[in-house]
Amino acid sequence: PLPPPYQVPLPIPATLEPVAPGRYEIVQREASAEILPGVRTPLWTYGGTFPGPTIESRRGRQITVTHRNELPVPTVVHLHGGRTPAASDGYPTDLVLPAGWTGTTAHAGHAAEPGHGTQAGHGAQAGHGTHGGHGMQAGHGMQAGHGMKDARAVVTELTRDYTFPLDQRPTLLWYHDHRMDFTAPAIWRGLAGLHIVRDDAEEALGLPAGPRELPLMIADRAFAADGSFLYPSLDPTLRERPGVQEPYLAGVLGDVILVNGAPWPVHEVDAARYRLRVLNASNARHYELEAVTDDGRRLDLVQIGADQGLLAAPVTHRLLPIAPAERYDVVIDFSGVPVGSRVRLLNRLGTGRTRDVMAFRVARKAADDSRVPGVLSTDLPAWRRSDAVRVRDFAFRAGQMHGGRGWLVGGLPFDPARADVTTGLGDVEVWRLVADVHHPVHLHLVGFRVLSRSGRPPLPHDVGLKDTVSLRPGEAVEIITRFDGYRGRFLFHCHNAEHEDMAMMANLEIV
Ligand code: C2O
Ligand code: CU
Repeated sequence: PLPPPYQVPLPIPATLEPVAPGRYEIVQREASAEILPGVRTPLWTYGGTFPGPTIESRRGRQITVTHRNELPVPTVVHLHGGRTPAASDGYPTDLVLPAGWTGTTAHAGHAAEPGHGTQAGHGAQAGHGTHGGHGMQAGHGMQAGHGMKDARAVVTELTRDYTFPLDQRPTLLWYHDHRMDFTAPAIWRGLAGLHIVRDDAEEALGLPAGPRELPLMIADRAFAADGSFLYPSLDPTLRERPGVQEPYLAGVLGDVILVNGAPWPVHEVDAARYRLRVLNASNARHYELEAVTDDGRRLDLVQIGADQGLLAAPVTHRLLPIAPAERYDVVIDFSGVPVGSRVRLLNRLGTGRTRDVMAFRVARKAADDSRVPGVLSTDLPAWRRSDAVRVRDFAFRAGQMHGGRGWLVGGLPFDPARADVTTGLGDVEVWRLVADVHHPVHLHLVGFRVLSRSGRPPLPHDVGLKDTVSLRPGEAVEIITRFDGYRGRFLFHCHNAEHEDMAMMANLEIV
């Protein structure tokens, strides 16, 4: 029962109220929602809704979020893009266990599944859809040095306090599940929400605000006839055995595009400027967004911010590529659009129904005192190559590992016990990232800047401070960053969530 596009109103996720100043509580629990008309979709949620509630916070004002896990499996919360100490960063084995959990906490469950790995391709991605069951190395699941040697000795922890200093540039962050080996299906079932950091300087700019600021969490999903989400897990309980069926090893795509949890929604707007805070929360789908009027005109998408906050100056696009986990802060001006007509947000990479994303119906003329200043921020780090004390190379590629093929970083599957990168607090480094197929690469803790793509200057949308960069097939992308903030163990990984679950992660140790 798929609805025709542009009929369902765009939901705006509710803002989470603190239980005390700086303190929030979220219960992770099963719920359901009428996403498609006439059927209920069972969900795993933060607080009963998908997306979860939006947390609104102020730069530099620390908050604590207590998560209580009432789901049937362990979970991990990560604040994506947060400048967060390691203890609250949601390391994939820092589990919040559910009541009465008797399963393994060391995800060793799939260590004895030889042969469920190899696969020979999936349509256009021939040869790259691979899964090696990276638990096949003995001991991989045992987290030596992570306090979890004996999987059964862990004290059941039903709640956990995550503390976020939020000492960072204002921007749109998102929180999502990050459990080892099971992140992709957990996000797919609904474990994702928004978190907006604000500050006075940004508010003083006069950008569109209030009802003219819209968070847009774009995520594709597939549905069964009864309304439930379809996901090709090998073990649909998500208790023991990770992984997806072979045709989906390159990543799971859905044929329904949800924005804030609604299929191809429509939003009524004034003929005025709007600020769109766009997140691609899809597991594996890339988009190239364009805004097209009913008479076929393409509106400018004026980019004012990247993953990690405001640009120095606005950059105008007609087409905006967005990879999984990337965010773009964009101003769109509906003032020249005839009242009563629509502007559709389309995905140029889509076909059929996945070409549609959402629409804006221009309802009325209205006053507009918003502005897009020519100077947006002056605090962007301007690291130069000569500042770098080290250059590192990482290949993001499919490859052979124990028992089959997998997605690897630098030729190795993820191992929680191995420090892949050790760097000094405050060190500036250049990383060269090479890809076989598309890999959106994300670094925890730090923002970075894109220096080059295959020896050429960065693309127009690579501007600003980022935490996720889309490596395109065959590309070599150079980024530069400074590892400041906190010492400890963090992650970097591919944010194609299926690749991530199939070992395309590595450890970043800041000492
Ligand atoms: Cu959006 Cu490591 O995560
Ligand atoms: Cu990848």
